[in-house]
Amino acid sequence: MSSTTPEETAPYGDGTAPGPAPIKRVRTHHLRELKQRGERFSMLTSYDQLTAQIFDEAGIEVLLVGDSASNNVLGNATSLPVTVDELIPLTRAVSRSVTRALVVGDLPFGSYQASPEQGYLTAARFMKEGGAHCVKLEGGVEMVPQIERMTRGGIPVMAHIGFTPQSEHALGGYRVQGRGEAAERVLRDALAVQEAGAFAVVMEMVPGDVAAEVTAKLEIPTIGIGAGNQCDGQVLVWQDAFGLRTGRMPRFVKQYADLRSVLLDAARAYDTEVKDGSFPAAEHTF
Ligand code: KIV
Repeated sequence: MSSTTPEETAPYGDGTAPGPAPIKRVRTHHLRELKQRGERFSMLTSYDQLTAQIFDEAGIEVLLVGDSASNNVLGNATSLPVTVDELIPLTRAVSRSVTRALVVGDLPFGSYQASPEQGYLTAARFMKEGGAHCVKLEGGVEMVPQIERMTRGGIPVMAHIGFTPQSEHALGGYRVQGRGEAAERVLRDALAVQEAGAFAVVMEMVPGDVAAEVTAKLEIPTIGIGAGNQCDGQVLVWQDAFGLRTGRMPRFVKQYADLRSVLLDAARAYDTEVKDGSFPAAEHTF
């Protein structure tokens, strides 16, 4: 039996301040606190139960049920065609499957741009029917009325500026935004969405030095995708990051795995064994 008590072994602590408590359930205010402490966080897309569980277990703070489901799950060429009714069941699958991550519902093209009222009603559906903890919308200065309406109505909003895929045709294709004099526009958009009440802002395809300046000027966290490494967080589409999708990738994507090859090999092995009669074997048979 030990004769010393914990007080005797460390009567005055070890001289360091106690660290912040671990985050049990990520809330929007935690992202701001991480920024204030200079700690980075990660975000991935997820559109289904099993990836949501895996990414949550891995410690990814934010899961985005992106409108990129359109061209990663639903077979479309771009994110434009996906509808609210298609995205809500995916959002519900993800929100039901996490225990820690913050789940972001992505408002699809045409579901919020018409008016603040339209935006509020769509966002409310993502929260009520999809179980999202917050929503994301694309746009800067022009989205201020929508962001104000949603936040006033109790819906936390993540903004998305720089290259905004829903405006691909208006922006003249996939292009870096904010080069040269256009840097001012990115900063103006970032300050406007912060002022309107957004709790975080995604910056897509923005030069690294511009994103760094915006990150330093904002109180809310920035989340980069093709915006260098000075943002407070980073986001990638999971099929890009883990190699389920292959082929030409934007320069900002890093592939951490080659899931396509793993699945292709497994599917071929299964196909061979079914056809040569070696599956199912005795141990798979009742
Ligand atoms: O829908 C999506 O996947 C996104 C990310 C690229 C930020 O908006």
